[in-house]
Amino acid sequence: MPTAKNSILPILAAALLCRGPVVLRRAPRLRDVDTSLALLAALGCTARRAGADLQLAPADAVGDTVPPALMAAMRSSVYYLAPMLARAGRARVAFPGGCRLGARPIDIHLAGLAAMGAVIDAGAEALDCRAPGGLRGCEFHLRFPSVGATETLMIAAAAARGRTVLTGAAREPEIADLAAFLNACGGSVLLRRAPLAPLQPTAALLRRAGCQVSAPAPDCVALVSEGRLDAAGELATGVYPAFATDAGPLFAAAMLRARGVTLLRETIFARRFACAGGFAALGADVRCCGGDLRICGVPRLRGAPLAAADLRGGAALVLAALAAEGESTISGTEYIGRGYENIAALFAGLGADIRTAQD
Ligand code: EPU
Repeated sequence: MPTAKNSILPILAAALLCRGPVVLRRAPRLRDVDTSLALLAALGCTARRAGADLQLAPADAVGDTVPPALMAAMRSSVYYLAPMLARAGRARVAFPGGCRLGARPIDIHLAGLAAMGAVIDAGAEALDCRAPGGLRGCEFHLRFPSVGATETLMIAAAAARGRTVLTGAAREPEIADLAAFLNACGGSVLLRRAPLAPLQPTAALLRRAGCQVSAPAPDCVALVSEGRLDAAGELATGVYPAFATDAGPLFAAAMLRARGVTLLRETIFARRFACAGGFAALGADVRCCGGDLRICGVPRLRGAPLAAADLRGGAALVLAALAAEGESTISGTEYIGRGYENIAALFAGLGADIRTAQD
């Protein structure tokens, strides 16, 4: 499987802290990675692909602003605040963009940076953050275990003078990946609660749906399914180690033809299931109740024209379309390309008849 988007993006931002070259191996070809390379270049860092690797040569002087369009292109642009503050002493930027999953404030990022000595002037459209005396270590409690805020504050803490203790922090697998990178660069990050096996929550649900899931070797998962799945019943997304919100739409797609009713409660984002309209167009029996999704499995789906509205929902439409009889076309695939490297090739490798329009 290719490297996960949500692991590599904060690492690319953290690389700005380094004074020497950084090489990241097996970097996925994702639109958000390209946006990150453009952000790094805008800040004065030489960033280029060399085969499967990314070669970065951080700048002697890091810029204190980036074009608003780059900030708006993805949520992960927020990760650049901390290294800009650390290296340039200032960050004048627009608010980050990203999939429209509901309100996505950055108050926890900003409160943590303020606790480390940043002075933040937040307007309606843009932020001006300064760290006149540099960043300093502190004790900070996150009011919610936000993945992004934990990463922002880890990057800030790695550059700050003194020790930082974060409590109430996220513990998703990408947190351990960022800690490993910061430590490889000479940082000293200690995670008090060790990460669990990253795929455990999803594997447990797949077993509930009647699949056999095993790990025949380290970093390897084997799945056996006898055909039509059983509905998983009631389940909820949540912060790790609960079932990941990013996997919600994909699991929902797998439940569309399952035997029985699945009620998927979304607890992280208000608008996670924009893909529900596409599921219905394929003939699925789905109902959105607030932010939740109720699925009554049907024996058959039929192909239809579909439109992706966000990354995970778009990937879920691909899955659902593959489970349908007949042809489907999916527009808006640029959302999918933000997080999946050539999803068509991935499924073609499993025997799917799938092409991107230019093929
Ligand atoms: N939140 C706040 N204030 C903050 C930060 C977050 O209220 O300062 C709220 C958000 O509004 C949301 C909840 O906290 O309701 C969770 O947000 P979190 O910060 O944990 O998520 P994120 O950092 O914005 C990352 C991933 C998402 C993934 C979530 C949860 C990246 C670039 N994005 O987002 O990935 O769903 O963590 O695991 O790492 C995706 O890849 O498709 C995606 C959306």
